[in-house]
Amino acid sequence: MGKLDSKVILVVGAGAIGDACALRYGAEGASVVLGDIRAELTAQAVQAIQDAGGQAVGIHLDGTDEASVEAAVKLTVDRFGGLDGLHANFTYVGEGIGGSSVLDVPLAIFDRTMEVNVRGFMLCTRHALPHIIARGGGAVTFTSSGAATKGVMTRFAYGMSKAAIQSLMRHVATRFGDDAVRCNAIAPGVIAKPVMHDETKAIAMNFNAIKRIGHPIDIASIAALLMSDEGSYITGQVINVDGGATMRP
Ligand SMILES: NC(=O)c1ccc[n+]([C@@H]2O[C@H](COP(=O)([O-])OP(=O)(O)OC[C@H]3O[C@@H](n4cnc5c(N)ncnc54)[C@H](O)[C@@H]3O)[C@@H](O)[C@H]2O)c1
Repeated sequence: MGKLDSKVILVVGAGAIGDACALRYGAEGASVVLGDIRAELTAQAVQAIQDAGGQAVGIHLDGTDEASVEAAVKLTVDRFGGLDGLHANFTYVGEGIGGSSVLDVPLAIFDRTMEVNVRGFMLCTRHALPHIIARGGGAVTFTSSGAATKGVMTRFAYGMSKAAIQSLMRHVATRFGDDAVRCNAIAPGVIAKPVMHDETKAIAMNFNAIKRIGHPIDIASIAALLMSDEGSYITGQVINVDGGATMRP
């Protein structure tokens, strides 16, 4: 028995954290649809879920394209009979690590950041919500970032976008709480990826209370709890999973 038995979850955005969350959802008994603009990136996690006896499908999904989002939600519902959870996890990071400030960020990069990280999350939510409500309620989870609430020297557009989805999260939690929809944001700190800059690693070692880089499974554990009935009284929250880099009242 898993904590997500009989639930159907759409994860948008594979990669380090998306794969780990999809795997954990599958391991807990959920049927998982994993979508990514690069469909081939979904293959590994989908295969692993299937090999473990679970149900999973990998699809092409462009979170910025309304027709693509709509089709993905429809495929999920047609295939598995409904939708209990949406996890919007995808991201665009166009600003370089040593990059630009408000004075010189190329507008094309700024606009794309908002298109993917903000408008994309709104589109996914808009199309998933009616099905979650029809199911009698469920969970919407956004992957935000610690960058949403920090003063940053660079990559400010990314931080702005991650703050904007926290506001969207509060709206969804407030407006649809009566429909038994819960909405939360996870704000990861520095989480291991195949390619990491030394500067990024140094941030974790300097600012964390727990002196290690996070693992995608650190995010997946809280994501699974939020999707499950064990999280049924948690909504409207930003949950920092960052080794104590952020401590709030
Ligand atoms: N890794 C970290 O240290 C860290 C820290 C804070 C927040 N985050 C957040 O966690 C989430 C996952 O990050 P990750 O580190 O696993 O990154 P990742 O690059 O491994 O995964 C992101 C995925 O999003 C997909 N994607 C991009 N544009 C898309 C679109 N338009 N439609 C659908 N898919 C699209 C990419 O193809 C990629 O597979 C992101 O939202 C990121 O901002 C990560």
